[in-house]
Amino acid sequence: MHIHKFEKIWLIFGIGMLVIFLTTVGIGAFAMGHQPASNIQTIDPEKVNETAPFDEPGVKQISNNKYEVVIVTSAFMFTPNQITVPKGAEVTFIVATTDVVHGFSIAGTNVNMMVEPGYISRYTQTFNDTGEYLILCNEYCGAGHHLMNARIEVVE
Ligand code: CUA
Repeated sequence: MHIHKFEKIWLIFGIGMLVIFLTTVGIGAFAMGHQPASNIQTIDPEKVNETAPFDEPGVKQISNNKYEVVIVTSAFMFTPNQITVPKGAEVTFIVATTDVVHGFSIAGTNVNMMVEPGYISRYTQTFNDTGEYLILCNEYCGAGHHLMNARIEVVE
């Protein structure tokens, strides 16, 4: 097959630009040590329910004032969907998804994570006020997206 000289030049130019672009993006994303802060740990997305700590979701007391809250997201729920933590405690949310991308945001706080298949999302939060907080999915995940929520009770 005969390729016209100019076509060839443009083809090489195009590929060259693509390589430069991908290299730049690659360096920008990885070489500088940048990674999404909440996405450092990975998990087999097919085996979330069998993989610790997600095989036993719920609230765990780690030390005197430290708690871990393990939550599994799936269309269209948080498991568990009702948790209780003490006011003033350091609470680390550890979240994974069994299916698609979900969101994990707690209304009235800075907690706002993306939960992506294959990754474990973490966020540590201290609740200084008692009361009920709403966990919402803020990534569109399908027909039941708007129904996907859970509650946190912060007690004295
Ligand atoms: Cu889960 Cu939207």
